[in-house]
Amino acid sequence: MAMQAIRTVAEMTAIRQQITSSVGFVPTMGFLHQGHLALVKRARSENSIVVVSIFVNPAQFGLGEDLRTYPRDPQRDLALLEEEGTDIVFMPASEEMYPQGFNSWVEVGEVTQRLEEASRPGHFKGVATVVAKLFNIVAPTRAYFGQKDAQQAIVIEKMVADLNMNLGIVVVPTVRESDGLAMSSRNIYLNAEERQAATVLFKSLNLARQLWLAGEKSAHEIREEMISLIQGEPLAEIDYVSIADAQTLEELKEIDRGALVSLAVKIGKPRLIDNIILE
Ligand code: PAF
Repeated sequence: MAMQAIRTVAEMTAIRQQITSSVGFVPTMGFLHQGHLALVKRARSENSIVVVSIFVNPAQFGLGEDLRTYPRDPQRDLALLEEEGTDIVFMPASEEMYPQGFNSWVEVGEVTQRLEEASRPGHFKGVATVVAKLFNIVAPTRAYFGQKDAQQAIVIEKMVADLNMNLGIVVVPTVRESDGLAMSSRNIYLNAEERQAATVLFKSLNLARQLWLAGEKSAHEIREEMISLIQGEPLAEIDYVSIADAQTLEELKEIDRGALVSLAVKIGKPRLIDNIILE
C-alpha cells in the first residue's frame, strides 16, 4: 500500500474504522531525525499498520518559546517516513486540532509538577491534551515514545493508566550522535562551538553512571560531581540536574531504587535535555 498523507480528523477517523489489524502509532512534531525513525522502525516491527503524526502542537509551547521558529521540513519528513514503510501520515493543521471554541484540557498530577515544569509551566498540560486527542483519533494498539523525553513518557504512561486508555505505551532507547549527544530536532539551533560544548550533557551522565557503578549511593555527591563537570564548560548554563525515583520523579537522597538521572542545560540559546536510568 502506498503511504497516505491525511490532513483532516474526519478522514483519519474514517480510515481508522476500516483497519481491523494492529496499529502502531508514533506521534511527532516533524523535522525527523534518527531518534524518530527508531520509533517508526520499532512500530513497524510490532504492528500491521504504522501511523505517524506530524503536528507542531501550539498548546505545549510557552510564551517566549520557539513555536514560530520550530524547525519544519514536511517534504523531507514524508520521504523518510515512506522509506521506513509508514502506512499513514496524519498531518493536521492547527485549526483542525484546536478549532474555534476548543476548551477541554487533560491535566496529569504530580509527575508533571517536577523537572521540566519549573522552566516550562503548562508544557505537560499541552502535551497530555494533544496526545489524548491523537489517541482518540488514531485509536492505536501501541504508541511509541522516546526515552530522551523521560518525563513526557512517564506523564503519558500515567495518563493512560489513570484514564483507562486502551493501548500499550512503548518507550524506545535514546538515539545518540557518535559523540554521545542525544538526537533532537532542536540540535539544529547549535552553532559549531555550541555543538562541541553540548557533549557535556552526556559526559556528565556518564560520570554519574561511573560513580554509581563504583559504589557511590549518595545522590547529592553524584549531583555535585555532575554540576562541577558541567560548570567547567563555559557555554553551559545549568537549568536542573536531578536524580529522582524513576517512576514518581521524587528527588532521591540515596540511590536505593531505579533512578532517573536527568538534566536540562542551556548551551548558548538552545536548552537541551538528556537522561539515563540507573537500575
Ligand atoms: O515528543 C514530541 O515530539 C511531542 O511532545 C509529542 C509527543 C508529539 C506531542 O506533541
